[in-house]
Amino acid sequence: MNAHPRPADAQAIDEAARRLSEGELVAFPTETVYGLGADAACERAVAAVYRLKGRPADHPLIVHVLDATQAAWWAHWPARAQRLADAFWPGPLTLILRRRDEAPGFACGGQSSIGLRAPSHPVARALLEAFAARGGRGVAAPSANRFGRVSPTRAAHVIDDLGADAPMVLDGGPCEVGVESTIVDLTRDRPVLLRPGGVGADQLEAVLGESVFARDAQAPRAPGTLASHYAPVTPIELVARDEIDSLIARLHAIGERIALWARPGAGSGADERLAMPADPELAARALYGALRTLDRSGCRRILVERVPDTGDWHAVADRLRRAAAGAGAAQRS
Ligand code: TXA
Ligand code: MG
Repeated sequence: MNAHPRPADAQAIDEAARRLSEGELVAFPTETVYGLGADAACERAVAAVYRLKGRPADHPLIVHVLDATQAAWWAHWPARAQRLADAFWPGPLTLILRRRDEAPGFACGGQSSIGLRAPSHPVARALLEAFAARGGRGVAAPSANRFGRVSPTRAAHVIDDLGADAPMVLDGGPCEVGVESTIVDLTRDRPVLLRPGGVGADQLEAVLGESVFARDAQAPRAPGTLASHYAPVTPIELVARDEIDSLIARLHAIGERIALWARPGAGSGADERLAMPADPELAARALYGALRTLDRSGCRRILVERVPDTGDWHAVADRLRRAAAGAGAAQRS
């Protein structure tokens, strides 16, 4: 029924806002990945997101807002939140805060906290503005893929994944960041990084003037932190750069066709090869599209060059580790 994405012109954005305010779902672009949006204050609409995604009911969604003013309607707003919002909103940063008692918790998976983010993509902002003009306070939106699958970074990916179940999809072109937002938990006595993303831990620390801690056993459960999240169907294996050529030779010797995502200069013998950009920001942008393409190549195995798990590469390394851990797991959801 919605086999084609709609170019996000003013008319389509207005229609999308109307649909949201009537409790329908709309998929829309953000600078990170495409989101599957619902009115966060509408129980029925939020329930439809969980159903369509196949997402367990206790996994909270991020609520997208225009700015700190809208955010402070949903959550208690400490000084740390204001500082981070001043520095990084609108942008790829989600803040976990204590939800205000008056604010509906339909999107919060039973938690007393709430995840809030002001996206910077112009289409997302225009949609949030049009929705606010109709009285909307926030759009709950997980990534617009089925649970456990690779996040969509183009409008066509949403249709590929959701098929005939896809709602209206606003097309805002390819996502610039390409991996999901950084998530920082501000509900505890110290800031905790729950998910690495477009904003680095070092940038958060510079603005806060204090350390940001790695997640630990007390951290809330988050689907983005399940070991098997973000997996394509074809098994993925991370391989050190200097072992790629010999591994391909061994696998060719037993008759396997090999798909490879690696930086230039290694693995020229692969049967399907996509170049991983040498720059970590560009690699993040290309990541999910490359995994989708290689997943469809018909090869039995995808090899990916292992990248450093530090600094600018942190978000890409994190998603690749989860994709490799989930080899085959995606079929289960
Ligand atoms: O970049 C993004 O964040 C994208 C775009 C669409 O904005 N959204 C996204 O949503 O990645 P999703 O649902 O795929 O991931 C949301 C993450 C999950 O790991 C979830 O557990 C965490 O945010 N989260 C949301 N609310 C939370 C809360 N109250 N406490 C702890 N984690 C929370
Ligand atoms: Mg997701």
